[in-house]
Amino acid sequence: MKPEVTPFFHEDTNTFSYVVAPPEGREAVIIDPVLDFDYKSARTWTEAADQILRFVRDSDYKVAWILETHAHADHVSAAPYLARELGAKVAIGEGIEAVQGRFTKIFNLPNEHQPHGADFDRLLRDGDVLRTGELEVRVIHTPGHTSDSNSFLIGDAVFVGDTLFMPDAGSARADFPGGDAGMLYDSMQKLLALPDDTRMFMCHDYAPGGREVKHETTVREQRERNIHAGAGVGREAYVSMRNERDAKLPMPRLIVPSVQINMRAGHLPPAEDNGVSYLKVPLNRLGRNPGERTGHD
Ligand SMILES: [Fe+2]
Repeated sequence: MKPEVTPFFHEDTNTFSYVVAPPEGREAVIIDPVLDFDYKSARTWTEAADQILRFVRDSDYKVAWILETHAHADHVSAAPYLARELGAKVAIGEGIEAVQGRFTKIFNLPNEHQPHGADFDRLLRDGDVLRTGELEVRVIHTPGHTSDSNSFLIGDAVFVGDTLFMPDAGSARADFPGGDAGMLYDSMQKLLALPDDTRMFMCHDYAPGGREVKHETTVREQRERNIHAGAGVGREAYVSMRNERDAKLPMPRLIVPSVQINMRAGHLPPAEDNGVSYLKVPLNRLGRNPGERTGHD
């Protein structure tokens, strides 16, 4: 089965969201939709999500599930907005419980902690198959970038979240709370073991070297050419490269709002008695002092 994959690029955060539909049949899924967020005004809006919504409606698709590859730290999720508009449910990996546990401590939110990922409609485990219409979504647990990261195999297409980047960009960082470079290497190898012609879809691309932005490659290309994990790079070499590189990376621009909102399945924090929702900023708790800054991943 070769599903039809429609990418939507969010320029402000270099994120790709996807609508995936069977070649025939109208039941589609949405993967990793983005809510627009302006840091300076702390405003959210739905221009990017509305593009997806229009496409879904124009194509006469029905969407029962919105899937998150992981709790993103660099963009805010539009899953609740689209779920409401489309009557859909939201699923993420069961590792979200650990992510929520860690960030509940970092943001000191004990009164709000929802145990067992209760903000989400379904928690996905490795090997789960989510069926919707003619689509079968196979869940491959790919931890390392975050502990809740999953990849989704749908027919001949795999959506890898931040487990791999395009071959010339390599891989995502593994230094967020709960991240682990060795685990990320093992997860990448799992994906590289899929059939050669499997189409592989990224969640991000930062267009290294000024090339155009790209979102799609194949398992064969990744295995042969991925600069971090392809062409036989060993585990130890990868782990020391990754850790060294991560030590130089600044925190993502939107980590503070993204994590607080995405750990609540994309819902804003509960409004205070004046009807306004507020975010917290933990001082001297995330990242390191600004040092040499080399990239975005
Ligand atoms: Fe990510």
